[in-house]
Amino acid sequence: MGRRAETWGWTLPALGAGLFAVAILAALLGAELWPAVVAGVAGLGVLLLGLANQRILTHLHGEVETARSESALAEERLAQQRTAVDSFSNGLDVAIFLCDERGLVLYANRKAIEMFRFEDPVGRAILAVSLSHDLEKLVGSILEEPIDGELAFSYPEERIARVRAWREGGGSERIFVSIVDITELRRLERVRQDFVANVSHEVRTPMTTIRAMAETLQDDDTDDPELRQRYLERIITEVDRLTLISQDLLILSAAESGVLRKNTCDLVPIARNALALVDEAARTKGLNLVLEAPDSLFAEANGAQIGQVFVNLIENAVKYTAEGTVTMRLRSEGPNAIIVVEDTGIGIPSEHLPRIFERFYRVDKARTRPGGTGLGLSIVRHIIESHGGTVSVESALNRGSVFSLSLPLGEAGPPPGPSA
Ligand SMILES: Nc1ncnc2c1ncn2[C@@H]1O[C@H](COP(=O)(O)OP(=O)(O)OP(=O)(O)O)[C@@H](O)[C@H]1O
Ligand SMILES: [Mg+2]
Repeated sequence: MGRRAETWGWTLPALGAGLFAVAILAALLGAELWPAVVAGVAGLGVLLLGLANQRILTHLHGEVETARSESALAEERLAQQRTAVDSFSNGLDVAIFLCDERGLVLYANRKAIEMFRFEDPVGRAILAVSLSHDLEKLVGSILEEPIDGELAFSYPEERIARVRAWREGGGSERIFVSIVDITELRRLERVRQDFVANVSHEVRTPMTTIRAMAETLQDDDTDDPELRQRYLERIITEVDRLTLISQDLLILSAAESGVLRKNTCDLVPIARNALALVDEAARTKGLNLVLEAPDSLFAEANGAQIGQVFVNLIENAVKYTAEGTVTMRLRSEGPNAIIVVEDTGIGIPSEHLPRIFERFYRVDKARTRPGGTGLGLSIVRHIIESHGGTVSVESALNRGSVFSLSLPLGEAGPPPGPSA
């Protein structure tokens, strides 16, 4: 009901008033009385009818205006709610689809679009979007109760996800699907299981040896002092090995747990101390130990942990080098400290290089006698990465290996000296 209706509303009263005025005028000008009276009364009637009609029109107009502004308000509120639901859904780290009963996608949040790298999934079948028959089947089989499942997706990459599908409710046939990526969780669980299995295996071998030797000593009635000595030495070696394993495990778990406490420390004396620890072993083997470093190199780091890293690398270099030189180099390069440990030893076959930083990984048990635990380099990598640094290795068989660390210097500068 607009301005035109409003204008038309005044036409009837105007017509009535006009007719009434003409009747009065005609009577005054001496026209016949009766027709003038009839016209006057008719004019008055039309005028009154028109006024009543106009009142009704004005009232209706007001009602329509109120209804219109209420519906505009409701629409605005609806739009606000839709924006809130959209931004909530798009902020979730869970993929959400809304499908119709045939499995056509009606809505997909941002995570769903990212997860399946499908730019505009609306109007497409959930099968076409996810390339998963299992997901399609799950959506197709839903009845009243929600369905949960763990599905493996192979597109766009291998992934394991926890999926839940449920009906929208309120008699609707529409179906919600939520997908949570748990690939990383499952990987960590596998790493943990492997780790426990590895620890048990590593510990069982020396335990079995110790028990067998001790039993032989107990049963042996020949009084052969040489044999007894050999067995006892072997038992001591195996106990040392167990001690080494437990020490390495403690270092690893200490590095993994808790907050990393860093302070400004000079890497040069830490390197010197680490070299001093292997000095005797190197001298026994006739190896040269060389340190190339500036007077000082300050970094924000946990000094004890970095010391452990240096010791592990230098110990390896000495252990796996028969002759030549072990060199340690320290320098700063842009925002990083670069630490290199280089040897002229047996080297590492290239096929083993990608795995040597894994826990308990040893290239070849025969060449590492007396056997290490295979935890040294995994400790190195863990500590350096928790400091925000990187570890890399280059090696040539029978020519030597180069281990390089890059460690962020942070805000580090020399610690304030004693006040004068
Ligand atoms: N400098 C090196 N030269 C040659 N091989 C090396 C060198 N450093 C490491 N490796 C190889 O990588 C493997 C893993 O090293 P890692 O330090 O983790 O274990 P480990 O030395 O055997 O035992 P430990 O835990 O006692 O250090 C070693 O077994 C060895 O085969
Ligand atoms: Mg080692």
